[in-house]
Amino acid sequence: MILLTGTSGQLAKEFQRILPERGLEFSAPLEEKLDISNFEQVKCAIEEIKPDVIINCAAYNLVDEAEEEPSLAFKVNSDAVENLAVLCRRFNIFLVHFSTDYVFDGRKKEFYIEEDLVNPVNKYGESKLKGEELIKKHLNNFLILRLSWVIGEGRRNFLYKLFNWTKQKRILKISCDEVSVPTYVEDVVHTTLLSLKKGLKGLYHLTNSGYCSRYELAKYFVKKMGLDNILLPVPASSFILTGTGKAMAKRPLFSAMSNGKISKELNISIPEWEDGVDRFIIRIYK
Ligand SMILES: NC(=O)c1ccc[n+]([C@@H]2O[C@H](COP(=O)([O-])OP(=O)(O)OC[C@H]3O[C@@H](n4cnc5c(N)ncnc54)[C@H](OP(=O)(O)O)[C@@H]3O)[C@@H](O)[C@H]2O)c1
Repeated sequence: MILLTGTSGQLAKEFQRILPERGLEFSAPLEEKLDISNFEQVKCAIEEIKPDVIINCAAYNLVDEAEEEPSLAFKVNSDAVENLAVLCRRFNIFLVHFSTDYVFDGRKKEFYIEEDLVNPVNKYGESKLKGEELIKKHLNNFLILRLSWVIGEGRRNFLYKLFNWTKQKRILKISCDEVSVPTYVEDVVHTTLLSLKKGLKGLYHLTNSGYCSRYELAKYFVKKMGLDNILLPVPASSFILTGTGKAMAKRPLFSAMSNGKISKELNISIPEWEDGVDRFIIRIYK
């Protein structure tokens, strides 16, 4: 039995689509019923559902807001993750947790591998890194999968925002020096479930293959959608202020991670990011 958390999020929704297809038993309580920062609530859910595996899709992902309210980011991404780890240890449950490319500072200029030194440049990255460390402190039995630029159904991803911008303005400025790997939720779920089946443990980078800048991603999306917007490549530093007048969080410029280790362990080849975007467009917009 799998217990899924953060069930309204884009990744959790994909698990809820694919788990029934695989005939895997799971329970996905709504966030209101299962707040991972509420130790007693999580404990009660575990006692009732009796999971063998918890897949933690809950997270505080608002990178800019985390600079203004770091305590909330740490509450969900670190303290609550420690709750899960403590309870997984107590009840002998395997924990699957997702982390981020934002644990890196982006100065490496080539694919990050699992052994690379971490050095987050913003509060969101710090809070996610602390979550990883707390899992390692309490558990031997865990899988931490670092993702980047997650694309799925929902409003909290770059392509959703981009599509809205294309309807508002013909000419769009998109940063060309922020580089990572757009990663489609379908590939994340398939690879996570295969990892579970094959008994993978530890820390892995899980992304689609290849990498691109936000500008290249936007150009690809606009072309595939048949839109006539004009995209202008600009440096990320030109977006100093958000609409609210508050400073944006610093982001790593090059945070593409290699999926080589997980691909080798599972003997698979993870599709290129363009292939993921193609499937996302067909599913959501066509
Ligand atoms: N999105 C990305 O580009 C990205 C990049 C790298 C790594 N990741 C990681 O990938 C994982 C999945 O992310 P995602 O894109 O699916 O995120 P998402 O769409 O933002 O989903 C996260 C879900 O967690 C919920 N949540 C927040 N606090 C909670 C709490 N205390 N208890 C229970 N649920 C809570 C959120 O609810 P509310 O909406 O009500 O807050 C939301 O439904 C996360 O670990 C994230 O850090 C994401």
